Amino acid sequence: MNHLLKLLDLTGEEIISLLDLADRLKYEQAHQIPHPILRGKSLGMIFAKASTRTRVSFEVGMYQLGGTALFLSAKDLQIGRGEPIQDTARVLSRYLDGIMIRTFAQSEVEQLAEYGSIPIINGLTDFCHPCQVLADLMTIREYKKTLPGLHLCYIGDGNNMANSLIVGGLKTGMTVSVACPEGYHPDPQVLAFAQGKDFHLTGDPLEAAQGADVLITDVWASMGQEEEAAVRRKAFQGYQINDQLLAAANPGCMVQHCLPAHREEEITAKVFEAHAGEIFDEAENRLHAQKAVMAALLGGIPL
Ligand code: CP
Ligand code: NVA
Repeated sequence: MNHLLKLLDLTGEEIISLLDLADRLKYEQAHQIPHPILRGKSLGMIFAKASTRTRVSFEVGMYQLGGTALFLSAKDLQIGRGEPIQDTARVLSRYLDGIMIRTFAQSEVEQLAEYGSIPIINGLTDFCHPCQVLADLMTIREYKKTLPGLHLCYIGDGNNMANSLIVGGLKTGMTVSVACPEGYHPDPQVLAFAQGKDFHLTGDPLEAAQGADVLITDVWASMGQEEEAAVRRKAFQGYQINDQLLAAANPGCMVQHCLPAHREEEITAKVFEAHAGEIFDEAENRLHAQKAVMAALLGGIPL
């Protein structure tokens, strides 16, 4: 593994090894066992979209690993004035040991990896959110003690989160069901990957939630889709994690949300608060999962 561009590029074994490493780093952090795996190393963090969790967890994670992180707003870089990504990649490779990038087009992330000579980490694109899903899988495994054989159900927009959850869930041996409205299905590349696997796509949230061990949702309008918000609010009516959906799921069903959440849209305030422990553990696990990714990619820790 040279980069983390999308989960489609990883084997199931690599994903599980990353989760094992994340568990180890979480344990060491909790027991004040230092792990300066990236001493003297620098991570550039390019953001073309807003962020709370990704920015803070990468920066703190890099610090805890003994390295340093630089916040680089895309609008303040020369990228924002049209400098090609190919040149930016080659320049930043001369200064940094790795780059985390959050942007719109997946092709930009792939180009950084192609033209640069340092590890590239995808911190969210319109296509996928691999760091978030590693944290989700880590959290599910913490609570349920296993992944293979569990039933993961995603309700809502067939967006970056849906795409990564489908791939991450199937690669780790889970059953994956997804309920999306017509016109908002997951990416065709992801559906092609899922075809013939333990995957079920429906328009009916209740049907998807039957027998679920974990219910997951995300916002109806993602970053960059603000102008579609009104149309989407109509299209997504009923695509909500609520008591009715939890009643259809298995007893002890978990709820995950990558955050930020819109209460009474994709999830009721009641369900959110009842499962807040799991949801904020998931947010915390961004830190540990990403430290594992950085330790593997920038620090050469074998997977
Ligand atoms: N879940 C997530 O990526 O959060 P941020 O947008 O705050 O980074
Ligand atoms: N789907 C959301 C996820 C935010 C973490 C977005 O892209 O805005």
